[in-house]
Amino acid sequence: MYRDRIRLKSLWGKVVTPEEAALLIRDGMTIGMSGFTRAGDAKAVPLALAERAATEQLKVTLMTGASLGNDVDRILTEAGVLARRLPFQADPVLRKAINRGEVMFVDQHLSETVELLRSRQMGPVDVAVIEACAITETGGIVPTTSIGNSATFAILAEKIIVELNLTQPLDLEGMHDVYIPTRRPFREPIPVVTAESRAGLPYIPIDPSRIAAIVVTRKQDSSATILPPDGETRQIAGHLTEFLDREVRQGRLGRSLNPLQAGIGTIANAVLHGLIDGPFHDLTMYSEVLQDSTFDLFDAGKLNFASGSSITLSAGKYAEVLPKIGSYKGRLLLRPQEISNHPEVIRRLGVIGINTALECDIYGNVNSTHVNGTQMMNGIGGSGDFARNAHLAIFVTKSLAKDGKISSVVPMVTHTDHNEHDVDVLVTETGLADLRGLAPRERAETIIRNCVHPGYRELAMDYHRRALQRGGHTPHLLEEAFSWHLRYQQTGSMQPS
Ligand code: COA
Repeated sequence: MYRDRIRLKSLWGKVVTPEEAALLIRDGMTIGMSGFTRAGDAKAVPLALAERAATEQLKVTLMTGASLGNDVDRILTEAGVLARRLPFQADPVLRKAINRGEVMFVDQHLSETVELLRSRQMGPVDVAVIEACAITETGGIVPTTSIGNSATFAILAEKIIVELNLTQPLDLEGMHDVYIPTRRPFREPIPVVTAESRAGLPYIPIDPSRIAAIVVTRKQDSSATILPPDGETRQIAGHLTEFLDREVRQGRLGRSLNPLQAGIGTIANAVLHGLIDGPFHDLTMYSEVLQDSTFDLFDAGKLNFASGSSITLSAGKYAEVLPKIGSYKGRLLLRPQEISNHPEVIRRLGVIGINTALECDIYGNVNSTHVNGTQMMNGIGGSGDFARNAHLAIFVTKSLAKDGKISSVVPMVTHTDHNEHDVDVLVTETGLADLRGLAPRERAETIIRNCVHPGYRELAMDYHRRALQRGGHTPHLLEEAFSWHLRYQQTGSMQPS
């Protein structure tokens, strides 16, 4: 029965099939859909759109919170529905279409999309498609396992389609905190002063007459694709735990550390997992994605509170956690991504941000997005929101990729997402480089000594030594700066033969 989940009875007559709801979406429109790192995404209307595209011209701009699950990005790409996509994706088929130049991908800081919409620098949003676990007596939309950009999409859109997902537990109600910042340039300070602060409402407030259709769904979120910790990610976690312990012993942090953020991916999840055995307690998280490690830390009694924008779990963890999600009430809060990733709040709380680099260079510039400076991987996501504003901006990566044929630490990154001014600490399995207060020449020495794999260390030292002879504040040999990448393209390995 779904009617008990639509508590405003006047909306009962709005229930239609996904195909009927999808008819509200026409060629050329801009759609704002729920979904953040595979959680809480719209699951039926996008598939109906893809089917329609088989018989009619249908291309849209699709905005979401972040990446989608249930192969929605793949299906929409294969159906040729996507003209533009933002602000993040992580689908291999869409990735290829982006790199072929067929889909215009706008890679944005996750906190910024709705600011641009609200100030009409982008948009307008024609239709919002939002997954909900319930609709309140006043017509408020209760989101599910993510909020992402859903609140602002719903508030700004001309029409709203609600996907009421009966598999999403009603216990999620009360775990959301929907706060919408006031207008600029006279904006009030955002009243979030601890990870636990509640600033808004437990639902998305909208005028119910703007709900044009309700679709009932029964499909679960896709599970996360993270791999379990391995030897190298455990070593990375070990270096980081030792570093944080030193920060505590030197009086720069307390045993509860500062609120933690960890980005998507296997390495960041493994690093948080490593804190289970660390000497810290009463931890808090102020993050965007809450992964398996969040719940492992809760269950180990190490974590007191987690604030995020989505809950993205592996299949096993999803089956274990979702049915008892109510037991985490009071310890967990989901916020719009503009608040979970807000520079003002991140700076205020002194967040410790841990994100993954695709590659970094000997001066500490980080590339999170572009292979060989050209091929998009996923997008910058929230890493820039956190890195620029964190108390400690930490980047982790394995020192090698592709079976050692690639060194993740190179003379010069081929694309810069996080520049040397934003990066405090770099960690690979070989060691940790604490870059705080160091000049570029010192940063290079520290990074090469600690983070470069022994198989590439002499090569990096040789590059730096010869660059130093040329002089400069940040010495480089411009004609050689990308020679490692070129060698990989030409020979299949960055190692000279
Ligand atoms: N050059 C080329 N390819 C590289 C590479 C390099 N220097 N380093 C890693 N790769 C490849 C890996 O081989 C792997 O390829 P595969 O999918 O073919 O196996 C892929 O990149 C992913 O690397 P992996 O080691 O599995 O790391 P991950 O799952 O932790 O993802 C990022 C790493 C950087 C792609 C991911 O963290 C990301 O997209 N970050 C940007 C967004 C972000 O940080 N958000 C934070 C807040 S959510």
